[in-house]
Amino acid sequence: MEDGKTEPPGADLAKGIAASDLPDGGKLLGHVGEEQVLLARRGAEIFAIGAVCTHYSGPLAEGLIVDDTIRCPWHHACFSLRTGEALHAPAFSPVDSWLVDQSDGKIIVREKRALTPAPARRSGEPGRIVIVGGGAAGFAAAEMLRRRKYEGQIVMLSADGSPPVDRPNLSKDYLAGSAPEDWLPLRPAEFYRDNAIELRLQATVERLDAGSREVELAGGERVPFDRLLLATGAEPVRASIPGTSPSEIFVLRSLADCRAIIERAKTAKTVLVLGASFIGLEVAAALRAREIEVHVAAPEAIPMERILGHDIGEFVRALHEQHGVRFHLGATAIGVEGREVRLSNGTAVRVDFIVAGLGVRPRVGLAEAAGLKVDRGVVVDAYLETSAPGIFAAGDIARWPDPISGEAIRVEHWVVAERQGQVAALNLMGERTPFAAAPFFWSQHYDIPINYVGHAERWDEIGVEGDIAARDCLVRYKRGGRTLAVASIFRDAQSLEAEANFERRRPA
Ligand SMILES: Cc1cc2nc3c(=O)[nH]c(=O)nc-3n(C[C@H](O)[C@H](O)[C@H](O)COP(=O)(O)OP(=O)(O)OC[C@H]3O[C@@H](n4cnc5c(N)ncnc54)[C@H](O)[C@@H]3O)c2cc1C
Ligand code: FES
Repeated sequence: MEDGKTEPPGADLAKGIAASDLPDGGKLLGHVGEEQVLLARRGAEIFAIGAVCTHYSGPLAEGLIVDDTIRCPWHHACFSLRTGEALHAPAFSPVDSWLVDQSDGKIIVREKRALTPAPARRSGEPGRIVIVGGGAAGFAAAEMLRRRKYEGQIVMLSADGSPPVDRPNLSKDYLAGSAPEDWLPLRPAEFYRDNAIELRLQATVERLDAGSREVELAGGERVPFDRLLLATGAEPVRASIPGTSPSEIFVLRSLADCRAIIERAKTAKTVLVLGASFIGLEVAAALRAREIEVHVAAPEAIPMERILGHDIGEFVRALHEQHGVRFHLGATAIGVEGREVRLSNGTAVRVDFIVAGLGVRPRVGLAEAAGLKVDRGVVVDAYLETSAPGIFAAGDIARWPDPISGEAIRVEHWVVAERQGQVAALNLMGERTPFAAAPFFWSQHYDIPINYVGHAERWDEIGVEGDIAARDCLVRYKRGGRTLAVASIFRDAQSLEAEANFERRRPA
């Protein structure tokens, strides 16, 4: 470019391309000025939208077109090809959208489209919606309510000391010291003010009265609601080891927990992580990046085997060992004396601090005490409504009838919580939209992302395509010959296809 700025790759779409360069169902990466633009064709229609995902800048050109949407290869956010709207989390901000002309065998991208006008207001909307929880589901619900022009009051009550944050980052780059502080808030403070979302922090709800339609905060204040969303998430299981008190063992759920671990890590040389599942091992990886000696003790023989099976579990163990993590598998901590932690296998490790990653328990106490139906989670229907009309639940606490597996399931996944928050928002406003997304989560270990779509608590067969050790694989978890879930490493396109097939009830 003449002014010294670099031009993004691909064709200059403002000058145009031959229509034959973009076949039906195809996509093509180009640019308009300095902006990367993705062209996509669906039948006679041609769309031009921003090519960079607004979540973590994933390359949409490597994504999957499903009907008139495109899904991001990294964490499966879904954008409208027509408008650029971020239809499904984890992205919330739209990508730009351009007008396209077709004539004389050419496709030319013109000016940017104005933002799509909001849909018309519905009648009969509730006057005041209260959201209990300032996490993934709570935030996504509040954002969607305002995006879809809900005009009543929104009150968001959060026990946290900070506004909603990108919680997955707390065990990854932020803990490792490679993500700046300003990556964490899901939205800046002004967002809540500008959108008239009354966000109240350190506001713990102690009681829900479903009959009189109010919640009671610690301190006695009562907050009435017309409709309510319960999105209280889960709390970490605390370790109890003779010789130390549970409060001396770090856990990781909130930003405050994460900051406390970072502070301790600044002067520590060694850590013991209890638990070898996702959070425990992500913490291990992040603390290795801080050059701390990391020991991991866990009762299972192979990390993550229960969720990902033997082979990926062994791969994950080897990966962490290559990065210097020392495993004590088949062992639990049975006593602490000073800096020494005794393990059940007879060994002892000297460490400066302990972090527990022992799993979580859904926070269902409010719902249970209010008489809502609870069965290993707050029971909701296809619309995420609890047994009390007008009270919805979403995220880690919700057990919903999953149309894909045909079972009532509860999961602890970031994207599911956000998408349930989005669907709950529509239904809080009076729509009847079922929650039908395929569960999806990702986990990151050093430079290796593991993506997982579907839900398989049990399986009788595992099919591996590709090579796990070569970091290029798709693993299918099957029961009775049917694929229930798919895990993948660097097979993003296939992971997206599996998600789309699950949602269309086709074989994945
Ligand atoms: C460190 C970490 C890393 C993770 N990484 C991943 C990942 O990589 N991928 C993935 O898929 N999932 C990940 N998860 C899981 C994911 O974060 C959760 O599934 C998701 O946050 C659940 O959303 P939620 O809205 O249900 O609960 P949360 O996000 O936990 O939000 C719950 C909110 O409710 C508030 N609250 C609770 N009780 C009350 C009360 N009585 N009154 C008022 N407020 C209350 C809490 O303070 C909090 O604000 C991770 C979790 C953690 C902790
Ligand atoms: S970068 Fe696109 S969904 Fe995360």
